[in-house]
Amino acid sequence: MQNFVLYNPTKIIFGTDTVGEIGPETAALGRKILLVYGQGSIRRNGVYEQVLASLAAAGLEISEHGGVVSNPLLSHVRAGIELAKKKQVEAVVAVGGGSVIDSAKAIAAGALVEHDVWQFFKAKKSIRKTLPLTCVLTLAAAGSEMNGGMVLTNDETRHKFGVGNRLLCPRVSILDPTLTFTVPPDYTAYGAVDAIAHILEFYFTTRDPATPVQDRFMEGLVINIMASCEQVLANPSDYQGRADLMWAATLALNGWTAAGLGMVGFPMHMIEHSLSALYNIAHGAGLSIVMPAWMRRQARLRPGKFSQFGQRVFNLAGSEESCAMAGIKCLEEWFARVNSPTSLSQVGISAADIPVIAENALALARIWRLNGYGKEVIMDILARASA
Ligand code: NZQ
Ligand code: ZN
Repeated sequence: MQNFVLYNPTKIIFGTDTVGEIGPETAALGRKILLVYGQGSIRRNGVYEQVLASLAAAGLEISEHGGVVSNPLLSHVRAGIELAKKKQVEAVVAVGGGSVIDSAKAIAAGALVEHDVWQFFKAKKSIRKTLPLTCVLTLAAAGSEMNGGMVLTNDETRHKFGVGNRLLCPRVSILDPTLTFTVPPDYTAYGAVDAIAHILEFYFTTRDPATPVQDRFMEGLVINIMASCEQVLANPSDYQGRADLMWAATLALNGWTAAGLGMVGFPMHMIEHSLSALYNIAHGAGLSIVMPAWMRRQARLRPGKFSQFGQRVFNLAGSEESCAMAGIKCLEEWFARVNSPTSLSQVGISAADIPVIAENALALARIWRLNGYGKEVIMDILARASA
């Protein structure tokens, strides 16, 4: 176990009938606010009215910036920054999933600088201050509600980059599982896949051979995510299942799983971001394609941890090699069971595109200093995912 510092400033308000807290919690941070949301799900499921009533009752002056798309775009964030500056907002409120929360984070950071917000994503500028951000989460997936990460697609260059800074952590996030009852089966599954990927990125890339507490924590989260995802696919309004899935997805990327693991990487995300940026496929769908391919390549290099994964998560027994490969197959079969794609061809991406995808991913590999991922390695992983 390595030395670590764990600090997460986000206040979580979890449970039913909590949306009404967003007004008072935000009013404590500022009076003029920018409300950021997506394409329309919150209007259809009544969350928009609940949030607006709470913000208005708290006496807030509200400007709105709706229209965030999945795999959110830099151009839409730039427009949000213009609006935030023009209205001189003092706080930002995000109501939605990871795309909305990440856009709101970028607006909260970009509103306080004169340079283009994309400079943060290219690691050319550092984030020194942000407007305070509060969130109402409506989709269990990205974990953005309790972390300092944000991911945007540059619509001009088709790069999808992520940046992390503790200042991006929401001050308050409201997690009411009933708000996710309306999440359709595809995004329910993609969210579960994304959360599993967040866990496995750290589980398999830590170089520390002895992290028993973290291993059991992460293995338990993966088991819970799979079970609760199946529960809510069977019954979308299953509160217990939605609550378990929501909290597990938040825990998957709020810093707790990575504590003590030392240096870890995000290679599967580095590759997936190019699939989302170039083909606009859902982030979780891209991950269920990349994950088994990356795992098969990695398992050949370090079978031990993959064997442990197979034994503990899927109750496999046998040789180290057989448990490692069978564990990956069980996970891939689970992705297929929840209808998340497991090959490039299933989403209409041809193997002939692999060099272009790899070239695109290289840019992020360099920014994230994933030194072991040159073009050949990325192409090898994509080729394993292509059939
Ligand atoms: O736009 P609306 O109408 O709201 O519809 C959304 C969207 O179409 C819909 N939705 C959300 N809540 C709903 C709902 N539909 C019905 N009922 C509800 N309650 O779901 C669709 C997907 O929403 P989105 O926010 O895109 O999904 P998700 O939460 O998975 O976020 C994906 C984004 O998060 C980024 C990804 O790259 C991707 O851009 N990530 C952010 C991370 C972070 N900040 O730490 C880490 C992750 O690895 C990830 O990269
Ligand atoms: Zn992710």
